Amino acid sequence: VQSGRVEVTFIRANGERIKATGKEGDSLLDIVVNNSVDLEGYGACEGTLTCSTCHLIFKKEDFDRLPDKPTDEELDMLDLAYDLTDTSRLGCQITMTKELSGLEVQVPATVNDARS
Ligand code: FES
Repeated sequence: VQSGRVEVTFIRANGERIKATGKEGDSLLDIVVNNSVDLEGYGACEGTLTCSTCHLIFKKEDFDRLPDKPTDEELDMLDLAYDLTDTSRLGCQITMTKELSGLEVQVPATVNDARS
């Protein structure tokens, strides 16, 4: 990986792995959008914390080392996501750092657009 570049692997519910790249400071939503990762309905509100479609599930060890802790607004929105887990976050709220490069995240089977 070039310096300043980060790698993320998205794992779909069916086990399909999608590798994507971005730069430090990108959110996981930016990375999905910039790589045209085909995730149905993902990021519907474009990161304005009103949809919960950007829900992602992290491995426990990754969840624990995420530098951004969830805000109350994120937690409220997460409550509306389907398939919520103890290691769920909203992808639009996660900023990639060098340390997080190589991250693997699980895409939940169903997305819920809280606006509908
Ligand atoms: Fe809508 Fe993250 S993109 S809450």
